[in-house]
Amino acid sequence: MTSTAVYPGSFDPITFGHLDVIERAARVFDRVIVGVLMNPRKSPLASAEERTSVIGEAVRETFPDVAGRIEIVTFDGLTVDLARRLEASFIVRGLRAVSDFESEMQMAHTNRKLAPGIDSVFFMTALEHAYLSSSLVKEIAGFGGDVSRMVPPAVVRRLGRSTISR
Ligand code: PNS
Repeated sequence: MTSTAVYPGSFDPITFGHLDVIERAARVFDRVIVGVLMNPRKSPLASAEERTSVIGEAVRETFPDVAGRIEIVTFDGLTVDLARRLEASFIVRGLRAVSDFESEMQMAHTNRKLAPGIDSVFFMTALEHAYLSSSLVKEIAGFGGDVSRMVPPAVVRRLGRSTISR
């Protein structure tokens, strides 16, 4: 039986913290589907299609050995509906610190209420990336700061072409 997990998020942009979670999930599950939310609450810097293509580049460049087991899709609506549609039994999320715990616990319980057959699995984000957040990356890049130690080269390249980094 194939174990499939969905890793939903805004990924605006993807950081080394997200990549670490994707890689570790791909070493646990047979198939990991990164679900890129089309319309996150905060207005996104990049379109869902752009975020999807950047994640694909980052995955192929960072861990080519497991890239074949990782798919990236855009989605709108509920995470549990995406998981059901893709026949995934698990939802993966990363936990950076205790501050993430409360909202993640609420989401996990709510998702379980909506879809009792789908379980949430958490990876503790690697300590060296635990301080990272997409919002801070956007703010730093917006002021022309160096984010190359926070995000993969695929994002740096994309930011270089965007007006937000100027
Ligand atoms: O990267 P983020 O912004 O922390 O990810 C949040 C995300 C996408 C996981 C969450 O907003 C989500 O699941 N949105 C889809 C709508 C949904 O299922 N809402 C109910 C969650 S209990």
